[in-house]
Amino acid sequence: DETQEGVKGLVDAKITEVPRIFHVPKDTLINEKPSVSDLGIPIIDFASVHVDTASRETVVEKVKHAAKKWGFFQVINHGIPLNVLKEIEDGVRRFHEEDPEVKKRYFSRDFSANKFVYNSNFDLYSASPSVNWRDAFSCYMAPDPPPPEDLPVACRDAMIEYTKHVMSLGDLLFELLSEALGLKSETLKNMDCLKSLLMICNYYPPSPQPDLTMGISQHSDNSFLTILLQDNIGGLQILHQDSWVDVSPIPGALVINMGDFLQLITNDKFVSANHRVPANREGPRVSIASFFSSSALPNATVYGPMKELVSEENPPKYRDITIKEYTEGYFVKGLDGTSHLSNIR
Ligand code: SIN
Ligand code: FE2
Repeated sequence: DETQEGVKGLVDAKITEVPRIFHVPKDTLINEKPSVSDLGIPIIDFASVHVDTASRETVVEKVKHAAKKWGFFQVINHGIPLNVLKEIEDGVRRFHEEDPEVKKRYFSRDFSANKFVYNSNFDLYSASPSVNWRDAFSCYMAPDPPPPEDLPVACRDAMIEYTKHVMSLGDLLFELLSEALGLKSETLKNMDCLKSLLMICNYYPPSPQPDLTMGISQHSDNSFLTILLQDNIGGLQILHQDSWVDVSPIPGALVINMGDFLQLITNDKFVSANHRVPANREGPRVSIASFFSSSALPNATVYGPMKELVSEENPPKYRDITIKEYTEGYFVKGLDGTSHLSNIR
């Protein structure tokens, strides 16, 4: 089955025209919003976070502003060593550039299993208006990662090592975000926001016709929080005040964004911003998205706006919903540019 060779397979076969199923619908192109590249998303330095209370509060204020106004920020001095970032980036590239026969061993469209899954375009079978110019593999790395021998050699050690660091950065981020809401540091962790980690490792081959297709269509994340590592090529854009703003790569930095569940439980105090990656003539581009998603929770666990954050003047904007029900709706809808949150208001 040639779809198992992914978008990279098409590029390796030297196609010069992007097949029609990858074409972004014309009306999407016509309604294109302006791009702004001189307006950067906030950059926050975590170096002083453990120094003293006053320095921590300064960081918390910045996180609060970014989470409310942008839903995104970049973090520097986050504590993950540069060599760990380099190893995971190299490992992800190495897997995607393996012999197709090796990759096919991991090919699957079953995302429910706790295993390493390689595929091209999960959106192929959803209601998305077009398929993305991207290959990806994914794996739940917490709380129950697969046994190490089930991970491909190309990226096994790097994934295990990077996961440890992402979990501890996640721990700090949920503390800072709880403090930014005026709540105890442990609040979000006690709601199991940090429990489950889904890693999705993207590979965006160069596109011969970048204007016709998307690397990843406009969407907001189906997570509490996402930690993104991107290589130095760039391409990620976020929708901010009706313009597309570039998230320019900063060597050694990580991109942090709020997901739909955080917008839901904070009753819109924090925003889960739309973002996308247009296809590019340059490439391949590699990115590693680590989603704190809580899909490992019992199916019956219910989330809604937090009691501490609602009042008579500020009533809940969302109904209570299980992560499972939300996630099913999210994937059935596909990446069509609308937020699934609007369906549970
Ligand atoms: C994503 O939104 O999941 C991926 C973003 C990126 O590759 O920069
Ligand atoms: Fe995303």
